[in-house]
Amino acid sequence: MPDLRRIIFDCDPGVDDALALVLALNSGLVEMAGITTVSGNVSVSKTTRNACRLLDYLGLDVPIARGAGRPLKVKPRHASVHGTDGLGDSRLLPADSSRKVEREGATDFIVRTVESGVRTIVATGPLTNIALAFQEDCNVMNRLDELIIMGGAVRAPGNVDSLSEFNFHSDPDAADYVLQSASVPKVLVPLDVTHKVLLTPADLSEIGDSRSGRLVKSIVGRYQKGYADSGLAGSPLHDPLAMGFCIDATFLKLQPMYLRVETSGAYTRGACVPEERPWMHKRANVRVATGVDSRRFLEYFKKTASR
Ligand code: RIB
Ligand code: CA
Repeated sequence: MPDLRRIIFDCDPGVDDALALVLALNSGLVEMAGITTVSGNVSVSKTTRNACRLLDYLGLDVPIARGAGRPLKVKPRHASVHGTDGLGDSRLLPADSSRKVEREGATDFIVRTVESGVRTIVATGPLTNIALAFQEDCNVMNRLDELIIMGGAVRAPGNVDSLSEFNFHSDPDAADYVLQSASVPKVLVPLDVTHKVLLTPADLSEIGDSRSGRLVKSIVGRYQKGYADSGLAGSPLHDPLAMGFCIDATFLKLQPMYLRVETSGAYTRGACVPEERPWMHKRANVRVATGVDSRRFLEYFKKTASR
């Protein structure tokens, strides 16, 4: 039996963040050392409440620390495709939660938890908390073995603007800071691959009637319709794919790149800017997922979510 991989899950639940949480918990290969929440798909009050609601429903005791209520510099913006509550306005989940979150904020929680020995972070929201943690104590944070990030669009269209993906557009300063200043092994899981992993209504019907399966089916409906209205054949499993890489790295093919993120462009805020001129001699600062074993990951997701 392989050792459990202890991780911090920094997220903005968010329907697909919730699916990533189910995948991690059902995989039997991940130990959730903590969940930190950030303003993103919905406000940080709602993302924090959603993390509590999900753990209440799943009956799990994982520390939750509330994070940044706004990006480093730009104004917060949210995503309607996740519904008003951020979890597809699901009626299956309790409307609220009385669960107590950690007294310390996400930044302190992340630094203390890395200091205590956790060496992997999976980040599926805007990177505000991650940037603040590195700014607070980069000596501790540079102990990380791997920082897995869902975000960006490198050689694929954006989903917020022609070149911009939601997490990077929401906090471009944090994304650029983390890519350029966090000197730890980073893996970026961009729209280039997540838009190739679409959960269709037919896939959804194959998910079993377990407690997790019922949760998945109850929160995906609105999310699936939102994407269908924009012409996609299914709902992209953005965050589950990033978590999938944490569970089994063979789902993705990676390419080292030197990436920067545009922080102020009128049409390009949040865009990924790869440096590919060899004479600039820029050392890669991230490994970018450029290929995905879509069919195998989708089958793994459906099987694991049905447990
Ligand atoms: O662009 C997709 C990403 O933005 C996902 O992480 C989704 O949850 C939103 O946070
Ligand atoms: Ca997310």
